[in-house]
Amino acid sequence: MSQKTIAVFFGGCSTEHAVSLQSAQAVLQAIDRSLYTPLAVGITRDGAWRCYPGDPGRLPDGSWERDPGCVPCVLSPDRTAPGLLLLDGEPRLLPLDAAFPVLHGKNGEDGTLQGLLELAGIPLVGCGTLASALGMDKDRAHRLAALAGVPAPRGTVFRRGEAFSAVERAAEALGWPLFVKPVRSGSSFGVSRVTGRGGLRAAVEEAFRHDAELLLEEAVPGFEIGCAVVGNDTLVTGRVDEIELSAGFFDFEEKYTLKTSRIHCPARIAPQTEERAAEAAKAVYRALGCRGFARVDLFLTPDGRILFNEVNTIPGFTAHSRFPSMLRAVGVPFDRLVNRLIALAFEDGSRESASPEEKPNAAPDRPQRAPLPVRKPSAGNAAARPCGQTQEVRA
Ligand SMILES: Nc1ncnc2c1ncn2[C@@H]1O[C@H](COP(=O)(O)OP(=O)(O)O)[C@@H](O)[C@H]1O
Ligand SMILES: [Mg+2]
Repeated sequence: MSQKTIAVFFGGCSTEHAVSLQSAQAVLQAIDRSLYTPLAVGITRDGAWRCYPGDPGRLPDGSWERDPGCVPCVLSPDRTAPGLLLLDGEPRLLPLDAAFPVLHGKNGEDGTLQGLLELAGIPLVGCGTLASALGMDKDRAHRLAALAGVPAPRGTVFRRGEAFSAVERAAEALGWPLFVKPVRSGSSFGVSRVTGRGGLRAAVEEAFRHDAELLLEEAVPGFEIGCAVVGNDTLVTGRVDEIELSAGFFDFEEKYTLKTSRIHCPARIAPQTEERAAEAAKAVYRALGCRGFARVDLFLTPDGRILFNEVNTIPGFTAHSRFPSMLRAVGVPFDRLVNRLIALAFEDGSRESASPEEKPNAAPDRPQRAPLPVRKPSAGNAAARPCGQTQEVRA
């Protein structure tokens, strides 16, 4: 079998640029070179694309950018000549068999790069344009998850420019403490836990620095759990993990230093609860149209309810990150995981490039649609979104 060329995209114009450098180093080092030829494509913080031929070990400190071997490049969206155009002199086309975006946050995990790859007809590892965009948008993802039977915390969305008094009213109706967060962000950037009226304005301003929409959300008692989901049509889950906080919330510093918090994998929960969490994660994954892989984050309340928090369509991907750890706990080592995710990109029958029109004998992919849940009326809760009401779920 001839080796397939896989472009691994890293860096990106995102507040999570540095995290991507670490994830991509691990991915590049794990790719099975007897099957695949990885091609590292770095995107600088300014958005310049560089084909980087050097050691993946030089990604995390950013020194890869100064490598004299770096070649400016762009992606050709022309389906008759899909691939990377190297721009050091007369443009040269480097054909690609697939692309693996290892980018976190905006301009990479949010469907933008996925759209470009789909336009070019290049198979991609992980979620496509729509699921990536939905995964980035906490409000729209919450609405779809609720329709699939996994409710989100109660909350309200505000757009930049709306009267602050309206935010205050909604906050009073939700009660304190509450969370203020950008609708589209990641790594806890712009997220605040607000304990009373006094801290609300600063939290709102901070969230609006990251996005034009914010989410005001009830603080959920209990703790956060996560579930790794892998697959296209047949789904596999890892062990559910648990974030143990000793103060505050899982902010950027805690996520990357774990100074006062701990990750327990597997989570210290009953097997039936873990099963319910995995079913809820799969329901959300399907509702959003995810492919390949994603980490679904949930809350588990003291009375045993499971609420949907968010989907990370490209979760942290170092060997020590949560997503690979959850799969290691079911016997899938990091290297095998990385190569399995690449293989899934080639197996995905729902991609347009492998559509039934091109394969006349192929049966159309028809995932089962879950019935819409019967919703209890909200008990006089002025702040609740129509689809984001808290309700008990036995997923
Ligand atoms: N409604 C909530 N109730 C309790 N904790 C929350 C809530 N929303 C967010 N958090 C805390 O804030 C962290 C970051 O929020 P999250 O919505 O996951 O944003 P990000 O996409 O930046 O990770 C979570 O990991 C959790 O610790
Ligand atoms: Mg999160």
